[in-house]
Amino acid sequence: MMSASTLLPLRVAIIGAGQVADKVHASYYATRSDVRMVAVMDSRLEQAQAFAERHAIPSAWQDAHEMLQAVKPDVVSVCSPNRFHFEHVMAALESGCHVMCEKPPAMTPQQADEMRVAARRAGKVLAYDFHHRFALDTQLLREAVLNGTFGEIYFTTAQALRRCGVPGWGVFTNKSLQGGGPLIDIGIHMLDAAMYVLGFPAVKRVTAHSFQKLGNRKNSGQFGEWDPAQFTVEDALFGTIEFCNGGVLRLDTSFALNIREQSIMNVAFCGEKAGATLFPAHIYNDEGGILQTLSQREEADDQRHLRSMEAFVRHVMGEPVMIADAEQGLVIQQLVAALYEAAEKGESVTLC
Ligand SMILES: NC(=O)c1ccc[n+]([C@@H]2O[C@H](COP(=O)([O-])OP(=O)(O)OC[C@H]3O[C@@H](n4cnc5c(N)ncnc54)[C@H](O)[C@@H]3O)[C@@H](O)[C@H]2O)c1
Repeated sequence: MMSASTLLPLRVAIIGAGQVADKVHASYYATRSDVRMVAVMDSRLEQAQAFAERHAIPSAWQDAHEMLQAVKPDVVSVCSPNRFHFEHVMAALESGCHVMCEKPPAMTPQQADEMRVAARRAGKVLAYDFHHRFALDTQLLREAVLNGTFGEIYFTTAQALRRCGVPGWGVFTNKSLQGGGPLIDIGIHMLDAAMYVLGFPAVKRVTAHSFQKLGNRKNSGQFGEWDPAQFTVEDALFGTIEFCNGGVLRLDTSFALNIREQSIMNVAFCGEKAGATLFPAHIYNDEGGILQTLSQREEADDQRHLRSMEAFVRHVMGEPVMIADAEQGLVIQQLVAALYEAAEKGESVTLC
């Protein structure tokens, strides 16, 4: 995807100088000699300036459009709150940049579709940071699906659950800035991992139930404090996705659920010939009544986030490596919207 006129090092700008920009995007770019961070923008100028100083970035901005026009970067990382992804991705694509956008793609499927079309029109890479699919565990299970190890997979459960784990920073409890609660924040990660392993089967119908039982009553937990009076998102959602191939995916997600574990982020796949759990990857079946393990990784791989960034940069440089692309991002956004709609209406939503 790198045009002949693009020179190395790649010049990168970052929009939204918060924690994910700091810990993941800037930290990764700093490891590469063929990438140079040239600008950072945040709606709070002092935040951008502190970030610039920390990462030795030569310019800090308060307006994304001004920055793009003045700096003309090759690549932009969009790490602003969800509500601004659309505006920032569109502006970056219109400025001729390749874009790595944090998840979720946007607030609505209509926006994600416009972003997809804009990227295609501009001939630029638009990738989303669905990093769990880059874990070696996820790759191993995807290979096993392609090799026919499981036969037909007819039941999948994806879980992104926390016990009293409402985020205490950012805008994660604010529906108008975030678009929703745990589904659009953490459930979306396990949804993407499940859909990736399954090969993005066509969806027939979804049903869902959502709850707001704890987030608006408590004010502190594993990840700090929040204001229960400003808690405007669901704190739990339980959904079912039915595929056109007859399979079913159950998705359970919550910021605050009274479960035994502090946190569960995992997917289980049940096929005719074998089953698997994702993190760490474990494939099992039975032979003549004897339960057996076919393959097992000892520990879940924690380099997945860096690998997601690496895949994006390599893709920009012209290597045909897998990324979470704009088409798949749109499908995930459509599923999130359908699950919210089904929960709100109390009835199933048909997708095909
Ligand atoms: N892939 C992952 O696992 C992962 C992890 C964390 C966050 N994220 C995503 O990254 C995004 C940011 O999350 P975070 O945890 O870094 O939040 P954060 O609150 O730490 O950072 C957001 C930053 O954006 C700035 N900002 C607010 N409005 C802005 C605007 N209009 N223009 C530019 N900057 C603006 C804020 O001042 C803040 O510095 C969210 O979309 C979130 O879903 C993804």
